[in-house]
Amino acid sequence: MKSSARRALITGITGQDGSYLAELLVAKGYHVHGMVRRSSSVGTQRIDRLCLDSVDGLTLHHGDMGDAGGLARLIREIRPDEVYNLAAQSHVGVSFEQPACTADANAFGVLRILEAIRDVQDAIGDPIRFYQASSSELFGKATEIPQSETTPFHPRSPYAVSKLYAHWITVNYRESYGLHASCGILFNHESPRRGETFVTRKITRAAARISLGLQETLQLGNLDASRDWGYAGDYVEAMWRMLQQDDPDDYVIATGETHTVREFCEHSFGRLGMNYRDFVEVDQRLFRPAEVDALLGSPEKAFRRLGWRPQHSFAELVALMVDADLELARKELADGTGRRAGDSPL
Ligand code: NAP
Ligand code: GDD
Repeated sequence: MKSSARRALITGITGQDGSYLAELLVAKGYHVHGMVRRSSSVGTQRIDRLCLDSVDGLTLHHGDMGDAGGLARLIREIRPDEVYNLAAQSHVGVSFEQPACTADANAFGVLRILEAIRDVQDAIGDPIRFYQASSSELFGKATEIPQSETTPFHPRSPYAVSKLYAHWITVNYRESYGLHASCGILFNHESPRRGETFVTRKITRAAARISLGLQETLQLGNLDASRDWGYAGDYVEAMWRMLQQDDPDDYVIATGETHTVREFCEHSFGRLGMNYRDFVEVDQRLFRPAEVDALLGSPEKAFRRLGWRPQHSFAELVALMVDADLELARKELADGTGRRAGDSPL
């Protein structure tokens, strides 16, 4: 029995983007179904508030991108109107250490979901719209500046190669079977909910902790890499807008501005009255076997067709993250829970 609320399935709901997207969809009146993988400790912190607030608007299910049968059963039982596939081993650096499991979740996982959608759609007749989390990492050793939907791909990591398969298999299922399947080619987007081993959060967390004496130094790799950094809360709106279009398509989502890791350090430490040069140490072990030197997106198509615009500037993003991490560090100090030299070695 279908209820009147639109139903969305989000894989990766416990991640940064999944948590913002779930909040957006619940606020729009969707019933959100979130897929959570089993872990020895509970990893639902980012959606805890939502679980408490929206008892009727959110249902969680166990599932894993490696489990084809489980994914198919989930889609058969939920019969979602929209599926947002955000689940992935999303760390580029880690993908060099775990290439096979990255490929299995990020590439074949997408194929498993597409097959399940195709089968359920054929059986029940109701269309299921699909969003795939593609990435600016696809451009890698980019041949054009800025990068748009027509820029050739040149992936530079096992992560990027896995996302290349996922991107093309999504396009292929759209062209072969008429699925309403869209890929968002999202450039880096950050927030206070960003995982602590991505460079922005690693910097803001360390700057805040150093300012309170909870940490002494910060080890980083390549300070000269540059990225087009936006705010995650803005980017999930673009995902939703893609699935509201009559026709599926692929869109670059970016700010159109690029900054180096060094600039991110300058702004973050500067906000707390410090000079990053006094605390940041370069550690060669944090360099990657192959680097993506610079990314800069052209979001013109999304501006025109989706009416989407980023709402936060680079300076606002840094401020938002530093302030949130300062609050967290103050709490650690008060609780006595600050880890000694808490910087992760990763
Ligand atoms: P994230 O914070 O790392 O979240 C990843 C999510 O995937 C988590 O919920 C994680 O579960 C889940 N997951 C990982 N492996 C899984 C598996 N085998 N089965 C089921 N779930 C699994 O990533 P994010 O920043 O939110 O990014 C969301 C998506 O967008 C990812 O696909 C990422 O590759 C892509 N993307 C991100 C960016 C960006 O800048 N953030 C840019 C472009 C594309 P746990 O909580 O249990 O780990
Ligand atoms: N993580 C990390 N840690 N990166 C560092 C460090 C460090 O200590 N020092 C320098 N960097 C550099 C990396 O070499 C890279 O050039 C840049 O900082 C950004 O690294 P990450 O924050 O790990 O992000 P990413 O750009 O590799 O990947 C993120 O964005 C992609 C979109 O372009 C992830 O969210 C991917 O999932 C996403 O697809």
